[in-house]
Amino acid sequence: MQRWFEPNLSQPTPNPRVVLITGATSGIGRATALLLVALGHQVAAIGRREDRLQALVDESADLLGTLLPLVGDVTDAASMLYCVGETVASFGRLDVLIANAGLGQRGPLVEAEWQDIEDVLQTNVVGVLHSIRAAVPAMRASGGGHIITISSVVGPVPTPNAATYSASKAAVDSLAQSLRMELKTDGIWVTNVLVGQTHTEFATQRRGRSGKVASKLPTMTPEQVASRLAQTIERRRRTITLRPLDRLIVFGGRFFPRWMDRLMYRIYR
Ligand SMILES: NC(=O)c1ccc[n+]([C@@H]2O[C@H](COP(=O)([O-])OP(=O)(O)OC[C@H]3O[C@@H](n4cnc5c(N)ncnc54)[C@H](OP(=O)(O)O)[C@@H]3O)[C@@H](O)[C@H]2O)c1
Repeated sequence: MQRWFEPNLSQPTPNPRVVLITGATSGIGRATALLLVALGHQVAAIGRREDRLQALVDESADLLGTLLPLVGDVTDAASMLYCVGETVASFGRLDVLIANAGLGQRGPLVEAEWQDIEDVLQTNVVGVLHSIRAAVPAMRASGGGHIITISSVVGPVPTPNAATYSASKAAVDSLAQSLRMELKTDGIWVTNVLVGQTHTEFATQRRGRSGKVASKLPTMTPEQVASRLAQTIERRRRTITLRPLDRLIVFGGRFFPRWMDRLMYRIYR
């Protein structure tokens, strides 16, 4: 039987989609873009680093689907409208948005640089809003679609010393829930994915304090997350928490909040 972290690349998707993914130059976004192209989808890959996009083009050259590299900044509404416009111009439609671009921040809130706080909110909240607002008209014109928001376990279970980041992901959780109801009549479904600790450039790009966080917790690879995102495209689920460990954390936060506060403090102080 196929395990969740082993995508079956010998079986291309019977239902190729046009997918726009933000934050495709690194980590989860990069692995997802490559996997989706390998499975036969048409993928618009968005990021600010042009050299990374060129590397993606080279890596995907022999794969089944098509990759369209687009330099774009999620914090800029006009940039996201441009990316959606180019996607539709190239592929004729837009079926799936994966709003993945994100930035972390670590350290006590009061001592943090204001610019770092603003960058996190601009990327993780405003960036998701710009991505969705640009994508929805194109999805409506395509007869429907699927928005996948990339949140974190720390959205429903916030940690100390990452208040802005946790709040930004809680905002994504709320947005996904509202929009699932709001866009239903347009045939647009919204799935929110709660990701747990994954080995990417996230920790090195993170603003504020450097160094490892929660080093005792097991870490996923971006490829493992990508394989679940590839499955998610095929299904209409509300919220997906990828690993049993992360489901346990979310369950604990909901039903044993005091105990989880103590545990989170010990892990993240
Ligand atoms: N890694 C984890 O442990 C973890 C856990 C839970 C949730 N997540 C979430 O997973 C998502 C992906 O993170 P990752 O771990 O793959 O991190 P990553 O390796 O640092 O990748 C982040 C991506 O976001 C892009 N990005 C950042 N700011 C952007 C902007 N203004 N416009 C366009 N793209 C932008 C970056 O590309 P450019 O710099 O080229 O623009 C990069 O491709 C994030 O939403 C993150 O919050 C990660």
